[in-house]
Amino acid sequence: MYTTKAHKETYRFIPANPKPLNTAKVADLLDNEWLNFKLRTGISEKESYLASKVTPLGVASSFQHWAPYPISITSANGAWMQDVDGRKLLDLSMGFGAVLAGHLHPVVVNEIKESLNDGMLFVTPSPITRDAAERICTRFGIDMVRFTNSGTESTMYATRLAKVFTGKKAIVKIEGGYHGSFDPLMVSAKPTLKDAGDPTSPNSVSQAGTEPGTVFVVPYNNLDALEKVFREHASEIACFILEPVLENIAIVLPDEGYLEKVRELCDQYNIVLIFDEVKTGLTAGHQGAAQRLGIKPDLITIAKSIGGGVPVAAFGGKKEIMESITNGNMAHFGTFNGNPLAMAGIRAMDAIATKKNLEKAEKLNLQALTRITEIIEEYELPAHTVGFGVKGCVTWSTSPVRNYRDYKATDFQVAEFSWLWSLNRGIITPPGLDEQWLISLAHDQHEIDVLVENFQEMAVALRS
Ligand SMILES: Cc1ncc(COP(=O)(O)O)c(C=O)c1O
Repeated sequence: MYTTKAHKETYRFIPANPKPLNTAKVADLLDNEWLNFKLRTGISEKESYLASKVTPLGVASSFQHWAPYPISITSANGAWMQDVDGRKLLDLSMGFGAVLAGHLHPVVVNEIKESLNDGMLFVTPSPITRDAAERICTRFGIDMVRFTNSGTESTMYATRLAKVFTGKKAIVKIEGGYHGSFDPLMVSAKPTLKDAGDPTSPNSVSQAGTEPGTVFVVPYNNLDALEKVFREHASEIACFILEPVLENIAIVLPDEGYLEKVRELCDQYNIVLIFDEVKTGLTAGHQGAAQRLGIKPDLITIAKSIGGGVPVAAFGGKKEIMESITNGNMAHFGTFNGNPLAMAGIRAMDAIATKKNLEKAEKLNLQALTRITEIIEEYELPAHTVGFGVKGCVTWSTSPVRNYRDYKATDFQVAEFSWLWSLNRGIITPPGLDEQWLISLAHDQHEIDVLVENFQEMAVALRS
């Protein structure tokens, strides 16, 4: 096993002697798992059929759908969920990382119950909202913050703010990077390779129905490509937005020195650097990814893990940029912004997401990554493990994935098999092959053993 040169706060273990898989066999195994899936999920199928009559695809967000139908959940507690077919499932998705606390963590529940004694929505300033803003600024090391209701709103306002602050209009983003569904940020979120063009100078591929304006797309971990775009278009570019660690194409780590140089280039060309920490956030460590990785962006966007599972998000950063709101150059609105329920979630997470608690979860994550790497090694599987904070994944490639094109070259067939194998045996990872597992504050040794033993059984099946 060897580790590769990525940022020292991250994990990537590459086993030494991989052997190819028999793809025909994997196809057979996958077919068999889909048959198994249909046999175990009859009530989910019926539920999906009924829901799809009143809501497209039968889901509230297109991310929740997979063909032929997703499973339907009735309840969740701690690290476990129950589906409509009566199955108990180990949740390793944890609301795409939003439920870092674990489902129904008593501190979250209590804070919310307490806040309901005082009201649900004031749409006026309140000490509750001021207190939550102070907590966020202190924890994430930022001067000022504004609350929103979703990651999409946060990235929309952060990029708009950068435009107003700099007086420039263009955005630069990473190919394959997802930042919510605001028009310019959907550009090249997951383009087809046919549309994507040259890997070192990718096309900007828009989504149907969007009006993105000028968006330049660059490959992750490629400083030459970034500098070229900055040099040629500095007078147009307001901001560069990226996840410091990409967490929407499994987990893709920054090369050693990449983020440091990104910071330098943004300063050199007068471009606002935005770290989208909607997914990293507290899952990266108790002060978020930026501080963990030692790079200070100009603005951050946060959501998911900051609120204990309630819908709350925010954007914030340097005072001189946030003051574009103070001085009236940019307005920021939202009826539900800073509502007491959401602020209770923030307060609860501020109490629970301590360095000690997150280090314990990260230790369990590292144990899972290490044991799974040993299994990959033992069965000579063409895969490796990647992790950051309390998140981890198996990437079906024998070499490091450094950008979107590397990710597109990974083995999606066996990744799908691995996901479905787990689902059929009571372990739910996010719907889609782009995600990662999350070890929440509710997961413990037993849950890690379930994850690792399941992987071991799958390795046996793949090599039998
Ligand atoms: C990195 C990143 N940014 C922004 C968003 C959008 O967040 P939301 O779904 O809360 O709008 C997401 C959602 O998954 C995300 O992963």
